[in-house]
Amino acid sequence: MNVEEFRRFGHELIDWIADYREKVQRGDLPVMTRVAPGAVKAELPAAPPDAPEPFEAVITDLTKVILPACSHFQSPRFFGYFPANSSLSAVLGDYVSTGLAQLGLNWQASPALTELEEITTDWLRQMVALSPAWSGVIQDTASTSTLVALLCARERSTDYGAARGGLQDSEQPLVVYASSQSHSSIDKAALLAGFGRNNIRVVAVDDRYGMRADALEEAVKADRARGLRPCAVVATIGSTATTSVDPLADISRVTQAHGLWLHVDAAMAGSAMILPECRPLWNGIEQADSLVINAHKWLGAPFDCSVYFVRDPQHLVRVMSTNPSYLRTAADAQSKNFRDWGIPLGRRLRAMKLWFLIREQGVRGLQARIRRDIAHAQWFAAQVDAAPGWLRLAPSPLQTVCVRHEPSGLSDDSLDTHTLAWVRRINESGKAYLTPAMLDGRWMVRVSFGVEATEHEHVAQLWSLMQEEAARG
Ligand SMILES: Cc1ncc(COP(=O)(O)O)c(C=O)c1O
Repeated sequence: MNVEEFRRFGHELIDWIADYREKVQRGDLPVMTRVAPGAVKAELPAAPPDAPEPFEAVITDLTKVILPACSHFQSPRFFGYFPANSSLSAVLGDYVSTGLAQLGLNWQASPALTELEEITTDWLRQMVALSPAWSGVIQDTASTSTLVALLCARERSTDYGAARGGLQDSEQPLVVYASSQSHSSIDKAALLAGFGRNNIRVVAVDDRYGMRADALEEAVKADRARGLRPCAVVATIGSTATTSVDPLADISRVTQAHGLWLHVDAAMAGSAMILPECRPLWNGIEQADSLVINAHKWLGAPFDCSVYFVRDPQHLVRVMSTNPSYLRTAADAQSKNFRDWGIPLGRRLRAMKLWFLIREQGVRGLQARIRRDIAHAQWFAAQVDAAPGWLRLAPSPLQTVCVRHEPSGLSDDSLDTHTLAWVRRINESGKAYLTPAMLDGRWMVRVSFGVEATEHEHVAQLWSLMQEEAARG
């Protein structure tokens, strides 16, 4: 493709995306895709084309094959999982980033890439009112950020044991603590960082699903008494099932008393900390060692844009640095080399989309949207609380409301069957998208607000639809 063709098809594709976004906003497309497994593969040749194809054919297949197999996370009627907003200004930022095709191997390879990432992550730090003691870097996902955190925790506990015999040298197994409500990525990170299943403790939660700091302290003491070495605690601000909040101030008293690393998974709820009124939820954050906020969830930067903050970047660099001769430059002493701030060597210009987003919406614009979403959740929670037969199963501190419809005569398995049936009917109708999840061993439905396009009318329509479908039995 030459530059002129790029210009022509580029304009066409921007129109295609703009048309798509309009259709999604109008509700012309079913929110959850209706295709069956294998549908896309059945439509596409299994082998690559030998000869070049006209580019028009690719665009035709986009419309005919790819689009019907997409669920629409940007739909105002999407209330599943967590929001994965992809603001249009940030989409343009991602375009520019790909077009510039920068590869950040070190500062010199692309000063713009490095310094824009420093600036935008520091903007986010200020937006969520973290102290200047924190430094940020963009990772792909929260899963990676948490893995990096646990690697750093491990190396601090072992005084950089990786440079010697690694975990195989250690006589006292290291232990990681997280609550029963923590995300599966915590478990995965602990396993990948070599802690071992036997050394992951699930700490009990209170009746609001927050980690019990007294139970944490007991577990830490018990492990010490058994000759194990407590290493790290992962606390969650905004858990996946219920957006529950672990009490950071109490937890940090335990981590500080016992010299443990404290990593905070605020992948979802971190965005809400741009609102001063939400910040009491993470009181104690300044006592943590590391923190992850996914700007690719509620805030509006397209996936992937997970901002990882640390208080001791020198430790991070010592754990992650490799420094082969071909990457060394004269500028190394005066600049950051982000390859030493995470696992991959190369990095793309991910900060561009965040920079476009923050500049185009301003902090005030982003705050207004997140406030609106919390108000939607509060309105919805009030409807559920007032409706006979409906139960709200957990506090709703942010934008997710956990509900169950409990008609008389149903319990246990029959209640689960009822819950899954009415949610499936809603999802299959294409009129809205909800995610069921297990809480305390029973199915419930998470109603997650926060899509950029969702307004009050969509929330009210969802509530009517839920009542209708649940009443059908
Ligand atoms: C609280 C929490 N932590 C971590 C993750 C994992 O995020 P990622 O897909 O960026 O790894 C999620 C995903 O929804 C989450 O809800």
